[in-house]
This record gives sequence, C-alpha cells and structure tokens, in this order.
Amino acid sequence: MPVRADGIGTARRPAARVQRLNELSARRFRRADDLAAGRLGDGPVIPVDLLSVAPLGLDLDESRHAVLAREEVASIIHAGLEFEAVLTTGFGFTMATMPPAEMSGGENEYALVQIGEETRHSQVFISLLRQLRPQAENPFATPFFRWMRGRFVTWMVRRPLLFQTLVLGGEEVPDLVQRLVAEHPGTDPHLAAVASYHRAEEARHMTFARLSFTEYHRSATFVDRLAVRWLTPVILAYLWDTLIHPGVYAAAGLPPWRTWGRVRAHPDRVELRRRATVPVRDALVEAGAIDAVRPPRPWRWLCESPEARKQGARR
Ligand SMILES: [Fe+2]
Ligand SMILES: [Fe+2]
Repeated sequence: MPVRADGIGTARRPAARVQRLNELSARRFRRADDLAAGRLGDGPVIPVDLLSVAPLGLDLDESRHAVLAREEVASIIHAGLEFEAVLTTGFGFTMATMPPAEMSGGENEYALVQIGEETRHSQVFISLLRQLRPQAENPFATPFFRWMRGRFVTWMVRRPLLFQTLVLGGEEVPDLVQRLVAEHPGTDPHLAAVASYHRAEEARHMTFARLSFTEYHRSATFVDRLAVRWLTPVILAYLWDTLIHPGVYAAAGLPPWRTWGRVRAHPDRVELRRRATVPVRDALVEAGAIDAVRPPRPWRWLCESPEARKQGARR
C-alpha cells in the first residue's frame, strides 16, 4: 500500500480527515472514567416498549418486565464486548502484518486510538454487567460455537474489505438500538448516558471505516469481494438476531426458542433490522462493491424495503 508523501497517512483514507478524527478523540478521552463509576437503578433499566418482545403484546407484570429489561440489556452488552474484542484482534493483526513504512501513519495512529476507545467502552460495559448480574445462559456460547467463532475471526481478519464491512456493520447494528435507548425518557439515566457516550465515539469509528471502503474494494481479492457480496448479509442478520439470545427469555419464564423465533420474525423487528443494516449496504454501494440497482440476493433479502418487496412480487 503506497504511503503519502507527507508521511501522515496512506492512500487508503484521506490524511486530513483521519487527523481530524484523531484530534476529536483526544478531546473526549476522560468521560469514560466517570461513566465506569456510574450506577444503574435497581428496577427495569429500559421501558416495556423498548423490549424485544414489545411487538408481541405479551402481558408482562412488573417483575418479569424488570428481569427481561436487565437480561436483554446484558445480552446486548455481551455482544458488544465480543464485537470489540474481534475489532481489536483485526486492527492488531493489520498492524502486525503491515509494511514498516505505514506504522507511523495517521491511519495507524487512529486505529490505535480506536483500540483505546474500544478498550474503555469494554471497561464501562463490564461495570454495567457487574451491576446487571445476568442469569441467562446463552445457547450460542457453547464451546463449539466459540471454537467456530475463533476460526471465523482468524479467517476474516485476513480479508480487509470483509473486516472493514463487518466493523461498520458491528457498529451500525447496535447504534440504532442505542439511539432508541438513549433517547427514550423511560430509560435508566446511567444507561442512557452510557449509550449516548458510546454512540458519539462510535460515530467517528464508522466515519473511519467508511473512508476506507473504495480503496479496500479496489485492492480486494476475489474471495474478499465474494464474501462481502454474499456472506456479509447473513453475518449481519446473525449479529442482529443474537444481540438478544434465546436464554434471555428463559430467564424471564418465557419459552426461549419459541419467543426468540416470534421476535425474529415479527415485521416490526424485521423492519428495525433493515433500518440498522441499510447504512452498511449504502456504504458498499458508494464504494462500488455492490450494485445499487441489483444488489446480490442476500443484500436484497436483508435491506429491501417492504414496498420494494411488494413491487418485486407484483412484477
Ligand atoms: Fe465501542
Ligand atoms: Fe467502535
């Protein structure tokens, strides 16, 4: 990868914009320490209408609402911790294998800033988990699933376009949930503060990921492009579906797999998933990685609006 003459950035991302991200991050450094010391209230941490089961119209008493709220939030936080660990692995791998001339570039500097920010996010998340004390068992966290995830991560970090797409996806997908949580007046104040702080930092990470797409697409291998076109939508759907795992419902006395299946299939939840993943598709379209008019079928399945789907069915 060529290095720019000014030595600040590489050709992948415009150096001035990366430098601006570095400066913005430096200003916000301290807030995470205060948040790690913050406390959640004892009751439900999110209101009923933000629960994943809200569209099902279940009759929930106060204690079941409290259990579901705390378990759902804990499940999302667990997913966030896993994602941030994967992201750190990917950036670490990139740095470990990059040409020496790129080590001192602004782009690499921002990757390190991002690792630092993710580390602080993860510390805040862990403090939330300690307070939430979740009891639910995640059926997707068995030794086999974790082994599979490890295999996938080591395969994925070697494919820069796929890795950057999943970085963007892993940040866009929870961003919508965090926005709803942060903006709802019924959310626990400390949780709302963490959600808005995390969104603000992630917004810069998403900008950083987007800056790279065109160049990574240009230099991507056949397998990398193929994975982005055909595999990524399935992974993003999996990410969305497992933000809240079936064990959460069991902890609240609901049938786990049946409730999970009903939540996944409900049109309101499918629409929320679509809204969360459309920005990833749009970034790929802008980079020329997928076609705007006829994107690959998995992307249509994930991101097509209900109106477009109806029109397609009529044709
Ligand atoms: Fe984060
Ligand atoms: Fe991030």
